[in-house]
Amino acid sequence: MNPIIEKIRSTFEQRGSEQYGTESVTQLQHALQSGQLAEESGAPEPMVTAAMMHDIGHILSAALLPESCEDDLDDKHELVANGWIKQHFGPEVADPIRLHVIAKRYLCTKYPKYEIQLSPTSLKSYHDQGGPMKPEEMKQFENEPFYQEALELRKWDDQAKARDKVTPPLSHFIPAMKSCLKQVAE
Ligand SMILES: [Fe+2]
Repeated sequence: MNPIIEKIRSTFEQRGSEQYGTESVTQLQHALQSGQLAEESGAPEPMVTAAMMHDIGHILSAALLPESCEDDLDDKHELVANGWIKQHFGPEVADPIRLHVIAKRYLCTKYPKYEIQLSPTSLKSYHDQGGPMKPEEMKQFENEPFYQEALELRKWDDQAKARDKVTPPLSHFIPAMKSCLKQVAE
């Protein structure tokens, strides 16, 4: 198997059973539900891959991350994993992941009703992450080439917390991930 795909697979195998924050799903269930929602909405493979991997920064081996970031894993997970992700995947995968936290702030600011359906944990982190955006921050976000994709990813992320939902296994998503790698070195 390709070494990058193997790294992703083993990361989920070793740490996927960890709880997803204080939600009632594990990291792996959250990833699989996100990938499933992306697939069901007809999203292209890079978005299915981004959905699957959007929180890998929470569980990726610290050895792959910059040393100074180890203490930040919980609150800056979308940024600490970005260096590793963009080495192996293009911006169509890496950028929606990098932007998925700020996308929640954007959605809640632009559509105040969005926060009503957030889980209590997600609502708390919204405020911890800065709460409503200033108009100039919103403009800056809208200038990101993949901001629409980040909004899509955010919506799947916020829904992918259903206890005991049946999903395809991790292996189902491997071909899409593989097709999105910058280089396939077998
Ligand atoms: Fe998530």
